[in-house]
Amino acid sequence: MTSGTFGAPVRSRLQVNLGATPPPAPGLRPFSDADVPPLAAAMWAAYRGTADEADVGDLVGAAHEIQLTLNGEYGAFLRYASFVADHDGRPVGATLVTLYKEEPLLAFLFTAPSCAGQGLGRALVKATMHALAEQDHDTLSLAVTRRNRRARRLYDHLGFIEIA
Ligand SMILES: CC(C)(COP(=O)(O)OP(=O)(O)OC[C@H]1O[C@@H](n2cnc3c(N)ncnc32)[C@H](O)[C@@H]1OP(=O)(O)O)[C@@H](O)C(=O)NCCC(=O)NCCS
Repeated sequence: MTSGTFGAPVRSRLQVNLGATPPPAPGLRPFSDADVPPLAAAMWAAYRGTADEADVGDLVGAAHEIQLTLNGEYGAFLRYASFVADHDGRPVGATLVTLYKEEPLLAFLFTAPSCAGQGLGRALVKATMHALAEQDHDTLSLAVTRRNRRARRLYDHLGFIEIA
């Protein structure tokens, strides 16, 4: 979620209007504090080697970013809208959502490369969209690096549009 840093990749702000979204697929569950260490490993594996690697830095940095998110650094943490995907009994991906300036923000989305391309990223965002709509939120926003084509394609197919 780091933003505005000198030399940082150029980011776009995207937003989707929340309408009726189906409930979460089986296998997804709400975030719990015990998820932090294994999710930090999944997060670092996901970001490593990507255009956003510097946002996380290393394994310790990933745990730190998750903790900052829980502590309200990016707005109040919305636990009910933050989901975890498990594989073989271990967390492998998550959405971490906050309330930033009164609006829901997808602060982090990641899935471990070992589970990439199986629809987990899409399912996680849809679960978040459903949970927010159930609480009468109208929109979900996020910031994405311009050259993160994979994430942008995912968001595009979920109906996100660029607003800044
Ligand atoms: C972006 C990310 C969450 C996608 O996770 P995922 O679990 O692979 O997502 P999905 O399986 O739902 O697939 C998402 C899209 O990527 C496409 N995709 C799958 N495997 C791919 C591959 N090997 N190369 C390129 N695109 C691929 C899928 O076709 C899908 O596009 P679609 O909407 O046309 O179906 C994951 O790559 C990630 O954690 N990246 C690093 C962190 C990051 O960039 N987060 C987003 C910050 S805003």
